[in-house]
Amino acid sequence: MSSLSQRDSKVIWHPYTPMKVAPEAIGIVRGEGLYLIDDEGNRYIDAVSSWWVNLHGHAHPYISRMINAQMKELEHCMFAGFTHEPAVRLAERLIEILPEGMEKIFYSDNGSTAVEVAIKMSLQYWKNRGIKKTRLVAIEGAYHGDTFGAMAVSARSVFTEAFTDLLFDVTFIPFPSTENKEQSIAELEALLKNGDVATLIVEPLVLGSGGMMMYGPEVMEQYFSICKKHETIIIADEVMTGFGRTGTLFATNQVSTCPDIICLSKGLTGGFLPMGVTATTLDIFNAFYDDDRTKMLYHGHSYTANPTICAAALASMDLLLMDSCTQSRIDIENAHIHFKESIATHPLIKDIRHTGTILAIELTTDTTSYHNNLRDRIYNFFLSRKIILRPLGNIIYILPPYCITIGELEYIYQCIRELFGVL
Ligand SMILES: Cc1ncc(COP(=O)(O)O)c(C=O)c1O
Repeated sequence: MSSLSQRDSKVIWHPYTPMKVAPEAIGIVRGEGLYLIDDEGNRYIDAVSSWWVNLHGHAHPYISRMINAQMKELEHCMFAGFTHEPAVRLAERLIEILPEGMEKIFYSDNGSTAVEVAIKMSLQYWKNRGIKKTRLVAIEGAYHGDTFGAMAVSARSVFTEAFTDLLFDVTFIPFPSTENKEQSIAELEALLKNGDVATLIVEPLVLGSGGMMMYGPEVMEQYFSICKKHETIIIADEVMTGFGRTGTLFATNQVSTCPDIICLSKGLTGGFLPMGVTATTLDIFNAFYDDDRTKMLYHGHSYTANPTICAAALASMDLLLMDSCTQSRIDIENAHIHFKESIATHPLIKDIRHTGTILAIELTTDTTSYHNNLRDRIYNFFLSRKIILRPLGNIIYILPPYCITIGELEYIYQCIRELFGVL
């Protein structure tokens, strides 16, 4: 192991890592487009976009340049009582591309905080209006982040187990699989009829950490119209699905009913710097717009709307909206479809599914779970072929940066076929 890895193991505690049994971390010294390069010169394909954040490749020169230019002008200033061009410009441009109805942008630091803000906004919205609605509804299998509110609206799972007793009550409706979707919709409608549900929170079209579980826009359309009928706030957590992953710029572009709140992070800055956005409607905003100061939103972070990060997001958006990037996303999806058709009947495959640029393969095994023992074997197999694929238990997925070429995708597909030969 390299000296960087050894020094790391003395002082670092890594996220989502069983520190006693995990191998030493690989020391990365450089990023170049699709590749991460380690301190021994190995070049790894980043097939999961570094936890789903990277859109245009690592160390993209245009984004780097725009960040650098901004840092020379204004690196940061507090965002209460002060504002700056990058934050205003980014909000204006987000509002232009988000589904209709989003008119106000609240900045925070990451996906979990974008969700925390959304939950607080939705609950206080009803309180400020003097209406007693406090119950939250979410989908079984959901993952919305690691802070306490975000954990509460996430599935009770191995991720939340140590804290279960401390999480506030949330009602979960069944995941809308082909077999369960009618029941899921019916349960939502029955719950909402009680009149006490403040909010429904969903990951639109794809439940990410829950295992890349996918459902169609027709289900989302029904969820949303039921919420509108029963005056329930809809939070669409687009932290993973936003910025082109699902075939449209946002997954919620695929329905005609608009959510009330949209959470963004990950791809927002092209994967360069952390930022959360909670976008909302004028209706929600106006419930806080009051002479009575107790009605304001008591939430903020030290680095809110950091100008350098806003510059990264603006630069990433420039690239995202180019025709060539749209075409790349279409090419990735077509390649996935082709590959999916070519291996769909393989006996090791329990299910293979795709939405836009995301492809997921669920392997036949005794249990589908995050700690499935196939996980390490699969991870190491791909690493030995210089591909970073971090399976979710027995679920392999590809969620690539948009700069990936068809040749590079074919190499990943080929390695998946080889994996099936050795399992
Ligand atoms: C849908 C969704 N929401 C929220 C989060 C939390 O984001 P972060 O890790 O930036 O806190 C994630 C992270 O994977 C996510 O997939």
